Amino acid sequence: MGETSALEFKFLITGEASRGSYVKVKDGSKDWIFAQVVDVTRSNVAYSLSMINEENTEAKERVVGLARVIGVASGGKLQMPTNPPRPGDPVLRADADLIERALGLSKGNLYIGLLDGHDLKVKLEADTFVQKHCSILAKTGSGKSYTAAVVLEELLEKGVALLIIDPHGEYASMKQKNTKGDFVKYDVTPKGYDVTVYSPANQVDAPHADRFFRFNGKNMTAREISAMLPEDVTNSQKGVLYEAIKILGSDGSEYELEDVIAQAEKDTSKAKWGLIGHLEALAELGIFSGRPTDLGDLLQRGKASIIDMTGVVPDLQGMIVAKLLSDLFEARKRNLVNPGMVVVEEAHNYIPERGSGKAASTAVIRTIAAEGRKFGLGLLVISQRPARVDKNVISQCNTQIILRVTNPNDLRALSKGIEGMSSELEEDIKRLPPGTAMLVSNEIEHPVTVKIRPRKSRHGGVSTPIVGGVKPRAKTMARTDKGTKPISSQAEGAKTVPDSGAKYEKKEAGGGFLRKILGK
Ligand SMILES: Nc1ncnc2c1ncn2[C@@H]1O[C@H](COP(=O)(O)OP(=O)(O)O)[C@@H](O)[C@H]1O
Ligand SMILES: [Mg+2]
Repeated sequence: MGETSALEFKFLITGEASRGSYVKVKDGSKDWIFAQVVDVTRSNVAYSLSMINEENTEAKERVVGLARVIGVASGGKLQMPTNPPRPGDPVLRADADLIERALGLSKGNLYIGLLDGHDLKVKLEADTFVQKHCSILAKTGSGKSYTAAVVLEELLEKGVALLIIDPHGEYASMKQKNTKGDFVKYDVTPKGYDVTVYSPANQVDAPHADRFFRFNGKNMTAREISAMLPEDVTNSQKGVLYEAIKILGSDGSEYELEDVIAQAEKDTSKAKWGLIGHLEALAELGIFSGRPTDLGDLLQRGKASIIDMTGVVPDLQGMIVAKLLSDLFEARKRNLVNPGMVVVEEAHNYIPERGSGKAASTAVIRTIAAEGRKFGLGLLVISQRPARVDKNVISQCNTQIILRVTNPNDLRALSKGIEGMSSELEEDIKRLPPGTAMLVSNEIEHPVTVKIRPRKSRHGGVSTPIVGGVKPRAKTMARTDKGTKPISSQAEGAKTVPDSGAKYEKKEAGGGFLRKILGK
């Protein structure tokens, strides 16, 4: 209609087309111009101010679409047309084949959902996805964890090894089949996955853990211990640490964290107190006791290992992630463990942007983002505060999955990170319904809106009703494959808890039992 250009045109909608639909119109005689409807308006001359009294208003209604040209799909490549479409030419709904070809949707093997409005499967390429990292960003409750799990299910099926840093214990439910969802429409068959839940805390704080997560606490070097300390540890505090370990290591005998603390106490400088505080926090966690977790166990092809952080205070979570990922990255460099993907949920806590917090894990996650690809270690970061996540890490993510974002600071942070982010795209992101994502990737020609497929495994998202909700329970509950059952420790007596292969008897409930068992 009217005036057209090579960039956009208006057309009269008589069939099925709405905002977001893909359409096509002939470019001269050969190729199709591929375009997306970015706006739809409705008008009726009968209701224009000058003709308000005229009768038979229905027939005069017009629905007009504004289409933005994405390109001309000629020879598999998308180019911008040099000529505008001819006014009067018919505009048609783009067919599946053209959309797939033009957007590059079907090259991949990770099925994440259907193209909004077109019921076409959107697939990402597994190798690129893992090697070049991914971020999932959106406000809380919009479906980040759900979407992450969908991607993780697909990766497991391709044999990728996964390590999930799970602050809320949401991912253990991947063991179970999903029962809710439109499985037929999305062509999905529910199933459970091979998942092992590790807890750095104890069985009381993380009752559904399968195993304890432990580090080797014997003869740690000063470098290994510093990697776990918060970023604000001073140089003089580090000096005390290096000095203490130098003395302990000098006679070749075995030492543990407690010995390092005792040695640091002998230091004469004031700086020692700050250091001792941090070391004691580490020692109290009990994470260095017992048999260490084998790094190789954590990355197994087609399996997921979950580090369930429930019951661990935030500072210590950062320290644990720092050491775990440094050890893993070193092991990967020497090819001692499988390649795989590391998933960081609530990433703003582990890689906070400068000025919005501190975490011991920032340095190593930055390193993995920058160099992981060389060594076969991919990164998936998930956060509800895009503005508060380290930009260095986000900018390394080749694939970005964005769900609903409304906070202006977060929108601004997203716009900066995305090439070709238009104000329309920003408006779209503000209005995305739950479970609908904007997919931006170097592998896909143009950002696309995807209705995320239902999960195959059960969603374990945490939200507790406050009004009219459940009654408090007297006993600690544990979720098992068979359902929810109490694990009142008195009742279960000697429950065995495998710790990285070793069996330990659980003798007593309460915070101290773990130390007693493992301290022997
Ligand atoms: N693709 C989806 N299909 C169906 N339900 C979804 C989908 N995405 C999210 N949901 C629902 O929305 C809720 C919040 O999702 P969740 O992933 O836990 O949010 P977030 O991690 O962003 O806070 C979930 O409980 C889930 O039921
Ligand atoms: Mg979540």
